Amino acid sequence: MFITRKAEFSASHMCRNAEWSDEENRKVYGAAANPHGHGHNYVVEVTVEGQPDPVTGMVRDLKEIKDVLDREIIEPFDHRFLNREVAPFDKTIPTAENIAVEIWNRLDSKLTNGSSRLHAVRLHETSDFSVEVRR
Ligand code: NI
Repeated sequence: MFITRKAEFSASHMCRNAEWSDEENRKVYGAAANPHGHGHNYVVEVTVEGQPDPVTGMVRDLKEIKDVLDREIIEPFDHRFLNREVAPFDKTIPTAENIAVEIWNRLDSKLTNGSSRLHAVRLHETSDFSVEVRR
């Protein structure tokens, strides 16, 4: 069984490779390469896999998932300029793909225990674009 919890954060980013010229960056990333950055209201959906506990009837306490998401993702990411304020995005270009991988890495050990485990992280960057990391 899979259970999914959603959370939101607002952050700004720019997609630029520091080793490329302005022209090369613009060709690859378009307006997202603008060095002033731009914002998104990101929506992250975290899916945990397991079986309902016979006593509680729950795969995992939703409050616990919310607390982990708040502590590991929302607090460090919300209202930040990712490239400047959140490692590793000073070195790794914060595309939706790379942000989703970082979210997975931050959550995996925290949401995987004896009876249930992290199954997927889906990150919506806009209403018509999302990426997913899955085990
Ligand atoms: Ni963007």
